[in-house]
Amino acid sequence: MVLLKNGHVVDPTNNINKKIDILIDSGKIVKLEENIDPPPKTQVIDASEKIICPSFTDIHVHFRDPGQTYKEDIYTGSKAAVAGGYTTVVCMPNTLPALDEPSLIRYIIEKGEEVGLCRVLPSAAVTKGRKGKELTEMSLLKDAGAVYFTDDGSPVMDAHIMRKAMEYAGSIGSFVADHCEDLNLSKDGVAHEGEIAAALGLPPLPPEAEDTMVARDCILSMHTGMPVHICHLSTKVGVEIITWAKAMGAKVTAEVTPHHIYLTDEEWLDFDCKAKVSPPLREHEDIEALRWALASGIIDIVATDHAPHAHQEKMQEHHHCPPGMIGLQFALPIVLELVRKDYFDMNRLVEVMSVNPAKKIGLKPPQIKEGELAELTVFDPSESWEVNEEVIQSKSKNTPLMGRKLIGKVKYTFFNGKIVYRD
Ligand code: DOR
Ligand code: ZN
Repeated sequence: MVLLKNGHVVDPTNNINKKIDILIDSGKIVKLEENIDPPPKTQVIDASEKIICPSFTDIHVHFRDPGQTYKEDIYTGSKAAVAGGYTTVVCMPNTLPALDEPSLIRYIIEKGEEVGLCRVLPSAAVTKGRKGKELTEMSLLKDAGAVYFTDDGSPVMDAHIMRKAMEYAGSIGSFVADHCEDLNLSKDGVAHEGEIAAALGLPPLPPEAEDTMVARDCILSMHTGMPVHICHLSTKVGVEIITWAKAMGAKVTAEVTPHHIYLTDEEWLDFDCKAKVSPPLREHEDIEALRWALASGIIDIVATDHAPHAHQEKMQEHHHCPPGMIGLQFALPIVLELVRKDYFDMNRLVEVMSVNPAKKIGLKPPQIKEGELAELTVFDPSESWEVNEEVIQSKSKNTPLMGRKLIGKVKYTFFNGKIVYRD
């Protein structure tokens, strides 16, 4: 038996936000009460000053298997996930080959289960080979276990194909998630079009490359009545568009990444391509709009877009450097910063990192309730730690946060009743 003693439990689903002990027997939560005395032979975990909440779900990660396992694999990705407090992740299909066949979908699920640290679920490509031309066999992919459809890494550029994809995915009870980028507008852009890109002479990437596609997708969703999910929203205009679409009754949901609510294009000032990410890091005004949108419910979900790349790849000059940064271990401290700054409360943090993302992919959110399997995260909201190579569990270390201090540290992660991570 395990007794979590003196922790502050936050579970919006069960309306819990108080100090309460949790007794776990054979993986199950058997008692939830103030001041439980430990039965004999019980491992007691002192959770004083810690928060205990349902563990997190990240619906947007790149684990690079198959094809690029020198960057990450399902084992190292899972390790990073549980160290970040996550027990469910959804892998993106921009692998080599792309996840566009049922056998590849099954491969990810089996490999995730073999590793066994957390629930690793695949999304599937919208179009064959992610080439944007021909729809995949969505029904078969869904039956194989794909939890949604996306060509992430690339947009679905053709509006007619996007419309058909939304209709098809919606009709089988799934949805399309779009990486919103008009490639004709983004062209060879590298950094957000603004003062920094201009001063440094970096090829600019205008925000309207994203905004026009967000608008297109919202309008297609409105007319078809089908759901669409906007990946990694990064602009203030995007927030306005989604506010409008939601008011019009469109079934639009949106996610934001930790890096887009924390870092600006000033990360480029040392000319380091670690700052290169798609969509690009924006300006203070965008960050502010995204933070308030997350607080108000216009943005539904925090997703990391954990995008590992090898050191040599990120060292290339800006045109050749692939976009992306790792994120699984930094999401909690970054979102906690918004709690500290009073954008929203701890309850909302748990909603956007645990409840909403689980629901979005059709899972019952983990719950801190008698009779449930323990699937929870214990974290210290005030412990400060330094980002360095040793603490990063991911195979790749590409992050502009290297060497910086973050506040908020995962201490334990429970998955399926077992401790899968201990700090
Ligand atoms: O920065 C990014 N990296 N954005 C994407 O959409 C794709 C991802 C990757 O696969 O590296
Ligand atoms: Zn992505």
